[in-house]
Amino acid sequence: MAQLWGGRFTKETDQLVYNFNASISFDQKFYRQDIRGSIAHVTMLAATGILTEDEKHQIIDGLHGILEDVTSGKLAITSEYEDIHSFVEANLIDRIGDVGKKLHTGRSRNDQVALDMRLYTRDELLEVRELIFELLRELHKLMKENVETYMPGFTHLQKAQPVTFAHHVGAYMEMFKRDYGRLTDIYHRMNYCPLGAGALAGTTYPLDRDMTAQLLGFDGPTLNSMDSVADRDYVIEMLSAFATIMMHLSRFSEEIIIWNSNEYQFVELDDAYSTGSSIMPQKKNPDIAELVRGKTGRVYGALMSLLTTMKGIPLAYNKDMQEDKELTFDAIDTVKGCISLFTGMISSMKLNQAVMKKSAMNGFTNATDAADYLVNHGVPFRDAHGIIGQIVLYCIDKNISLEEMSLEEYKAISPVFEQDIYEAISLETCVGKRNTIGAPGKTAMEQVIAVNEAFLKSIEEA
Ligand code: ARG
Repeated sequence: MAQLWGGRFTKETDQLVYNFNASISFDQKFYRQDIRGSIAHVTMLAATGILTEDEKHQIIDGLHGILEDVTSGKLAITSEYEDIHSFVEANLIDRIGDVGKKLHTGRSRNDQVALDMRLYTRDELLEVRELIFELLRELHKLMKENVETYMPGFTHLQKAQPVTFAHHVGAYMEMFKRDYGRLTDIYHRMNYCPLGAGALAGTTYPLDRDMTAQLLGFDGPTLNSMDSVADRDYVIEMLSAFATIMMHLSRFSEEIIIWNSNEYQFVELDDAYSTGSSIMPQKKNPDIAELVRGKTGRVYGALMSLLTTMKGIPLAYNKDMQEDKELTFDAIDTVKGCISLFTGMISSMKLNQAVMKKSAMNGFTNATDAADYLVNHGVPFRDAHGIIGQIVLYCIDKNISLEEMSLEEYKAISPVFEQDIYEAISLETCVGKRNTIGAPGKTAMEQVIAVNEAFLKSIEEA
């Protein structure tokens, strides 16, 4: 047991207590961030005259040595140390002697861990955002390729009106664009440096907090030292954004599972993204989509867990907050894995365009357009709705579609119908005439695709 705080104590910590308290098994994940923060701290301590230039160089060389040795595997992070902060400091003292004992001047583990967690989550948040960007690019490609790929649109999982695959994918494009924006917003809100807050009340040393903030790529220092060590809002916001991403992935996965089913056959998942059954030779299961759907629960769990952990904690730091890490790390790994696999799955998925189109033509998806035809010929909408309802019943009884009714049959129900009804209810017309912005018609879709193109380009060039 290597502890930083033995002085005041007369008894050894019980081993079980030590294990229960220690965080090294998981906070070793941010050894890079811990060392990076220490280098910035020491640089500032020298700039303000608290340490000499020589002391600074010795400490920074020592820290670089630790970083290299841990990264190369020469130096193992073991449970002999309570946490990553103790590990780095103890190793530094072993390496460079008494000068190493000056590293922690004007700092507490409270602002140190607040900094490490912020640096770590900031990096990961950007990585997740990059994965969302790759997904957006894939969705954009699918949209461009499928402006005329017809399929039924559903409400209540009942066929409603015909749309296109580009339009359906476009709905997810909007969702993931919002996710991208949410991550950016969170980044800007979280990008303030807590280092220098000390345990909770700042320090009497003349620290230059602006300098450390700048060295570490922050927009500035945080403005209240108690809040700095007690704030985990940014983790909660990030988990909330992750939960929303997972919700979107999960809904899309569910649709893909349905579309890939034997009954639908709208899409076929690539063999690489499917698995077989140990007993049923014919099976090809959409396990990846199911796992993405399933893992959503885990990420929601992380969010609920941290919200609950934080709800009763008085200011400022309390050890409860150590619980922010494992679940956040798990959520990060889960979200990253799910986005990558999902992107691979949809880019390799085959579309059965003929099946989708046929399905769009069945199920009276053009009934609204038939009613609109009557309206355009002077029939009030409510009456038109009734007439088409009657026609649908007639078709169901005869097991035919609206297109298959003869003009005589139409006229027998309403004399308003003429030959041009067939054109009016064709799939191409039903979709192609819907050109208000956001609708599935080709003109409208091309406008949206151009907006998306510019959006993706602006990110690429930023
Ligand atoms: N392992 C601790 C955590 O993750 C580091 C901060 C410890 N501070 C303290 N006062 N015990 O929160």
